[in-house]
Amino acid sequence: MADLYAVMGNPIAHSKSPQIHAAFAEQTGEGLIYTAMLVPEDGFDDAVKQFFRREGKGLNITVPFKENAFRYADVHTERAQRAQAVNTLVMQDDGQILADNTDGVGLLTDMTRNHGLELSGKRMLVLGAGGAVRGVLQPLLEQQPSELVIANRTVAKAQALAADFADLGPVRGCGFADVAGEFDVIINGTSASLSGDVPPLSDDIVAGHSVCYDMMYAADATVFNQWAMTQGATIVLDGLGMLVEQAAEAFTLWRQVRPDTRPVIKQLRAALK
Ligand code: ATR
Repeated sequence: MADLYAVMGNPIAHSKSPQIHAAFAEQTGEGLIYTAMLVPEDGFDDAVKQFFRREGKGLNITVPFKENAFRYADVHTERAQRAQAVNTLVMQDDGQILADNTDGVGLLTDMTRNHGLELSGKRMLVLGAGGAVRGVLQPLLEQQPSELVIANRTVAKAQALAADFADLGPVRGCGFADVAGEFDVIINGTSASLSGDVPPLSDDIVAGHSVCYDMMYAADATVFNQWAMTQGATIVLDGLGMLVEQAAEAFTLWRQVRPDTRPVIKQLRAALK
Protein backbone atom coordinates (compact mmCIF):
# COMPACT_ATOMS: atom_id res chain seq x y z
CA MET A 1 0.00 0.00 0.00
CA ALA A 2 1.20 3.53 -0.78
CA ASP A 3 2.62 5.55 2.12
CA LEU A 4 0.32 8.21 3.51
CA TYR A 5 1.14 11.92 3.86
CA ALA A 6 -1.01 15.02 4.37
CA VAL A 7 -1.05 18.74 5.01
CA MET A 8 -3.08 19.97 7.98
CA GLY A 9 -4.36 23.52 8.35
CA ASN A 10 -7.40 25.72 8.72
CA PRO A 11 -8.36 26.89 6.15
CA ILE A 12 -6.81 24.33 3.79
CA ALA A 13 -8.85 24.37 0.57
CA HIS A 14 -6.43 26.84 -1.09
CA SER A 15 -3.36 24.69 -0.34
CA LYS A 16 -1.15 23.85 -3.30
CA SER A 17 0.80 21.23 -1.33
CA PRO A 18 -1.18 18.21 -2.61
CA GLN A 19 -0.51 19.29 -6.19
CA ILE A 20 3.19 19.90 -5.50
CA HIS A 21 3.76 16.58 -3.74
CA ALA A 22 1.81 14.67 -6.39
CA ALA A 23 4.13 16.18 -8.99
CA PHE A 24 7.22 15.23 -6.93
CA ALA A 25 5.90 11.67 -6.45
CA GLU A 26 5.24 11.21 -10.15
CA GLN A 27 8.62 12.62 -11.10
CA THR A 28 10.60 10.46 -8.65
CA GLY A 29 8.44 7.34 -8.92
CA GLU A 30 7.82 7.36 -5.17
CA GLY A 31 4.56 5.63 -4.29
CA LEU A 32 2.70 7.90 -1.91
CA ILE A 33 -0.68 9.43 -1.25
CA TYR A 34 -0.81 13.07 -0.09
CA THR A 35 -4.06 14.72 0.95
CA ALA A 36 -5.21 18.02 2.46
CA MET A 37 -6.91 17.80 5.85
CA LEU A 38 -9.05 20.56 7.34
CA VAL A 39 -8.51 20.41 11.11
CA PRO A 40 -10.75 22.21 13.63
CA GLU A 41 -8.98 24.99 15.56
CA ASP A 42 -9.14 23.00 18.80
CA GLY A 43 -8.55 19.58 17.23
CA PHE A 44 -4.92 19.57 16.15
CA ASP A 45 -3.46 17.05 18.62
CA ASP A 46 -6.31 14.58 18.06
CA ALA A 47 -6.00 14.85 14.30
CA VAL A 48 -2.24 14.20 14.39
CA LYS A 49 -2.63 11.28 16.79
CA GLN A 50 -5.25 9.67 14.53
CA PHE A 51 -3.19 10.27 11.42
CA PHE A 52 -0.15 8.48 12.79
CA ARG A 53 -2.32 5.73 14.28
CA ARG A 54 -3.48 5.07 10.71
CA GLU A 55 0.20 4.50 9.81
CA GLY A 56 0.66 7.98 8.30
CA LYS A 57 4.34 8.63 7.54
CA GLY A 58 4.58 12.41 7.55
CA LEU A 59 2.73 15.71 7.72
CA ASN A 60 3.03 19.25 6.54
CA ILE A 61 1.56 21.79 8.89
CA THR A 62 0.28 25.20 7.94
CA VAL A 63 -1.54 28.15 9.54
CA PRO A 64 -2.58 28.20 12.37
CA PHE A 65 -0.95 25.02 13.72
CA LYS A 66 2.82 25.48 13.29
CA GLU A 67 3.40 26.16 17.00
CA ASN A 68 1.06 23.30 17.99
CA ALA A 69 3.10 20.98 15.79
CA PHE A 70 6.31 22.16 17.43
CA ARG A 71 4.87 21.28 20.86
CA TYR A 72 3.46 17.94 19.67
CA ALA A 73 6.73 16.55 18.31
CA ASP A 74 9.11 14.38 20.34
CA VAL A 75 12.35 15.61 18.75
CA HIS A 76 13.29 18.75 16.81
CA THR A 77 15.94 19.78 14.33
CA GLU A 78 18.08 22.69 15.43
CA ARG A 79 16.40 25.10 13.00
CA ALA A 80 12.98 23.97 14.27
CA GLN A 81 14.12 24.60 17.83
CA ARG A 82 15.10 28.12 16.83
CA ALA A 83 11.88 28.82 14.98
CA GLN A 84 9.65 27.31 17.72
CA ALA A 85 7.23 26.57 14.90
CA VAL A 86 7.35 23.79 12.30
CA ASN A 87 5.83 22.93 8.95
CA THR A 88 7.00 19.30 8.73
CA LEU A 89 6.53 16.21 10.93
CA VAL A 90 8.19 12.86 10.25
CA MET A 91 7.31 9.51 11.81
CA GLN A 92 10.72 7.99 12.49
CA ASP A 93 11.55 4.27 12.56
CA ASP A 94 11.86 4.40 16.35
CA GLY A 95 8.25 5.66 16.64
CA GLN A 96 9.29 9.18 17.64
CA ILE A 97 7.92 12.17 15.75
CA LEU A 98 10.60 14.50 14.39
CA ALA A 99 9.75 18.15 13.70
CA ASP A 100 11.51 20.34 11.14
CA ASN A 101 10.98 23.82 9.75
CA THR A 102 11.79 23.86 6.04
CA ASP A 103 10.43 27.34 5.28
CA GLY A 104 13.72 29.13 5.80
CA VAL A 105 15.80 26.74 3.74
CA GLY A 106 13.05 26.92 1.09
CA LEU A 107 13.46 30.70 0.90
CA LEU A 108 17.24 30.41 0.78
CA THR A 109 17.24 27.75 -1.94
CA ASP A 110 14.87 29.82 -4.03
CA MET A 111 17.00 32.94 -3.68
CA THR A 112 20.42 31.39 -4.10
CA ARG A 113 19.91 28.41 -6.41
CA ASN A 114 16.86 29.33 -8.47
CA HIS A 115 17.70 33.02 -8.77
CA GLY A 116 21.49 32.88 -8.42
CA LEU A 117 21.65 35.52 -5.69
CA GLU A 118 24.65 35.94 -3.43
CA LEU A 119 23.61 36.95 0.07
CA SER A 120 26.79 37.03 2.10
CA GLY A 121 27.93 40.49 3.15
CA LYS A 122 24.62 42.01 2.03
CA ARG A 123 22.55 44.51 4.03
CA MET A 124 19.18 42.85 4.62
CA LEU A 125 15.81 44.14 5.72
CA VAL A 126 13.07 41.74 6.84
CA LEU A 127 9.56 43.15 7.26
CA GLY A 128 7.32 41.53 9.87
CA ALA A 129 7.95 39.67 13.10
CA GLY A 130 5.38 36.89 13.04
CA GLY A 131 5.72 33.15 12.57
CA ALA A 132 6.69 33.42 8.92
CA VAL A 133 9.68 35.63 9.73
CA ARG A 134 10.75 33.60 12.77
CA GLY A 135 11.06 30.57 10.49
CA VAL A 136 13.53 32.19 8.09
CA LEU A 137 15.90 34.14 10.36
CA GLN A 138 18.41 31.40 11.11
CA PRO A 139 19.04 30.45 7.45
CA LEU A 140 19.28 34.14 6.53
CA LEU A 141 21.80 34.86 9.29
CA GLU A 142 23.82 31.82 8.24
CA GLN A 143 24.45 33.66 4.96
CA GLN A 144 26.42 36.20 7.01
CA PRO A 145 24.75 39.45 5.99
CA SER A 146 26.60 42.64 6.96
CA GLU A 147 23.47 43.55 8.92
CA LEU A 148 19.94 42.18 9.23
CA VAL A 149 17.25 44.65 10.28
CA ILE A 150 13.84 43.33 11.34
CA ALA A 151 11.15 46.02 11.06
CA ASN A 152 7.63 45.51 12.33
CA ARG A 153 4.42 47.47 13.00
CA THR A 154 4.62 46.33 16.63
CA VAL A 155 8.18 47.39 17.43
CA ALA A 156 8.54 45.31 20.60
CA LYS A 157 7.97 42.12 18.62
CA ALA A 158 10.78 42.98 16.20
CA GLN A 159 13.11 43.75 19.10
CA ALA A 160 12.24 40.54 20.93
CA LEU A 161 12.81 38.50 17.80
CA ALA A 162 16.17 40.19 17.17
CA ALA A 163 17.20 39.39 20.76
CA ASP A 164 16.29 35.71 20.25
CA PHE A 165 18.62 35.46 17.22
CA ALA A 166 21.36 37.88 18.28
CA ASP A 167 23.86 35.07 18.92
CA LEU A 168 23.71 34.12 15.21
CA GLY A 169 24.77 37.44 13.71
CA PRO A 170 24.33 41.21 13.52
CA VAL A 171 20.55 41.54 13.85
CA ARG A 172 18.41 44.33 15.30
CA GLY A 173 14.70 45.10 15.50
CA CYS A 174 12.90 48.41 14.95
CA GLY A 175 9.73 50.08 13.67
CA PHE A 176 9.05 50.96 10.03
CA ALA A 177 9.77 54.65 10.68
CA ASP A 178 13.31 53.83 11.87
CA VAL A 179 14.33 52.02 8.69
CA ALA A 180 16.83 54.12 6.77
CA GLY A 181 19.48 53.80 4.10
CA GLU A 182 19.68 51.50 1.09
CA PHE A 183 19.26 47.77 1.48
CA ASP A 184 20.63 45.09 -0.85
CA VAL A 185 17.89 42.63 0.08
CA ILE A 186 14.35 43.44 1.29
CA ILE A 187 12.09 40.54 2.26
CA ASN A 188 8.41 41.05 3.01
CA GLY A 189 7.23 38.59 5.65
CA THR A 190 4.21 40.58 6.83
CA SER A 191 0.66 39.55 6.05
CA ALA A 192 -0.13 43.20 5.21
CA SER A 193 -0.79 42.37 1.57
CA LEU A 194 -3.77 40.22 2.59
CA SER A 195 -5.49 43.53 3.27
CA GLY A 196 -3.85 45.21 0.26
CA ASP A 197 -1.42 47.18 2.45
CA VAL A 198 2.28 47.86 2.12
CA PRO A 199 4.21 48.76 5.29
CA PRO A 200 4.88 52.52 5.48
CA LEU A 201 8.54 52.71 4.52
CA SER A 202 10.81 55.54 3.50
CA ASP A 203 11.37 55.66 -0.26
CA ASP A 204 15.17 55.81 0.02
CA ILE A 205 15.61 52.20 1.14
CA VAL A 206 15.20 50.66 -2.33
CA ALA A 207 17.99 51.05 -4.89
CA GLY A 208 18.10 49.74 -8.45
CA HIS A 209 20.22 46.80 -7.34
CA SER A 210 17.99 45.93 -4.34
CA VAL A 211 16.48 42.46 -4.43
CA CYS A 212 12.87 42.63 -3.22
CA TYR A 213 11.30 39.31 -2.22
CA ASP A 214 7.69 38.94 -1.14
CA MET A 215 7.07 35.70 0.77
CA MET A 216 3.50 35.90 -0.55
CA TYR A 217 2.79 35.12 -4.20
CA ALA A 218 0.15 36.01 -6.74
CA ALA A 219 -0.65 35.63 -10.44
CA ASP A 220 0.68 39.13 -11.07
CA ALA A 221 3.08 41.27 -9.05
CA THR A 222 2.05 41.37 -5.37
CA VAL A 223 1.19 44.78 -3.89
CA PHE A 224 4.55 44.79 -2.12
CA ASN A 225 6.42 44.04 -5.33
CA GLN A 226 4.41 46.70 -7.18
CA TRP A 227 5.49 49.16 -4.52
CA ALA A 228 9.13 47.99 -4.83
CA MET A 229 9.07 48.54 -8.59
CA THR A 230 7.67 52.04 -8.22
CA GLN A 231 10.67 52.67 -5.91
CA GLY A 232 13.04 51.61 -8.69
CA ALA A 233 13.68 47.97 -7.84
CA THR A 234 14.47 45.84 -10.87
CA ILE A 235 14.74 42.45 -9.17
CA VAL A 236 11.39 41.55 -7.61
CA LEU A 237 10.54 37.97 -6.68
CA ASP A 238 7.53 36.36 -5.07
CA GLY A 239 7.15 33.37 -2.77
CA LEU A 240 6.03 30.71 -5.23
CA GLY A 241 9.54 29.30 -5.47
CA MET A 242 9.86 29.30 -1.68
CA LEU A 243 6.61 27.32 -1.45
CA VAL A 244 7.87 24.64 -3.81
CA GLU A 245 11.35 24.54 -2.23
CA GLN A 246 10.02 24.09 1.33
CA ALA A 247 7.92 21.23 -0.02
CA ALA A 248 10.94 19.68 -1.74
CA GLU A 249 12.89 19.82 1.52
CA ALA A 250 10.04 18.05 3.36
CA PHE A 251 9.76 15.46 0.57
CA THR A 252 13.49 14.78 0.80
CA LEU A 253 13.25 14.33 4.56
CA TRP A 254 10.40 11.83 4.14
CA ARG A 255 11.61 9.88 1.09
CA GLN A 256 15.41 10.47 1.00
CA VAL A 257 14.97 11.44 -2.67
CA ARG A 258 15.32 15.05 -3.81
CA PRO A 259 12.81 16.10 -6.47
CA ASP A 260 13.61 18.54 -9.27
CA THR A 261 11.71 21.69 -8.32
CA ARG A 262 12.09 23.69 -11.53
CA PRO A 263 9.39 21.99 -13.63
CA VAL A 264 7.02 22.13 -10.68
CA ILE A 265 7.56 25.86 -10.13
CA LYS A 266 7.00 26.39 -13.84
CA GLN A 267 3.83 24.33 -13.81
CA LEU A 268 2.40 26.23 -10.80
CA ARG A 269 3.32 29.59 -12.29
CA ALA A 270 1.56 28.72 -15.52
CA ALA A 271 -1.54 27.56 -13.61
CA LEU A 272 -1.64 30.85 -11.67
CA LYS A 273 -1.84 32.89 -14.84
P1 ATR B 1 2.53 34.80 9.96
O1 ATR B 1 2.44 33.42 10.49
O2 ATR B 1 2.04 34.94 8.54
O3 ATR B 1 3.84 35.43 10.16
P2 ATR B 1 1.57 36.40 12.12
O4 ATR B 1 2.41 35.65 13.07
O5 ATR B 1 0.17 36.75 12.49
O6 ATR B 1 1.42 35.63 10.76
O7 ATR B 1 2.36 37.73 11.71
C1 ATR B 1 1.83 38.66 10.80
C2 ATR B 1 2.87 39.75 10.58
O8 ATR B 1 2.36 40.69 9.62
C3 ATR B 1 3.17 40.56 11.84
O9 ATR B 1 4.50 40.99 11.78
C4 ATR B 1 2.20 41.73 11.70
O10 ATR B 1 2.57 42.89 12.41
P3 ATR B 1 2.22 43.03 13.99
O11 ATR B 1 3.21 42.16 14.71
O12 ATR B 1 2.39 44.45 14.28
O13 ATR B 1 0.81 42.55 14.13
C5 ATR B 1 2.30 41.98 10.23
N1 ATR B 1 1.12 42.71 9.67
C6 ATR B 1 -0.12 42.23 9.49
N2 ATR B 1 -0.92 43.17 8.93
C7 ATR B 1 -0.14 44.26 8.72
C8 ATR B 1 -0.36 45.56 8.16
N3 ATR B 1 -1.56 45.91 7.67
N4 ATR B 1 0.68 46.42 8.11
C9 ATR B 1 1.90 46.07 8.58
N5 ATR B 1 2.17 44.86 9.14
C10 ATR B 1 1.17 43.97 9.20
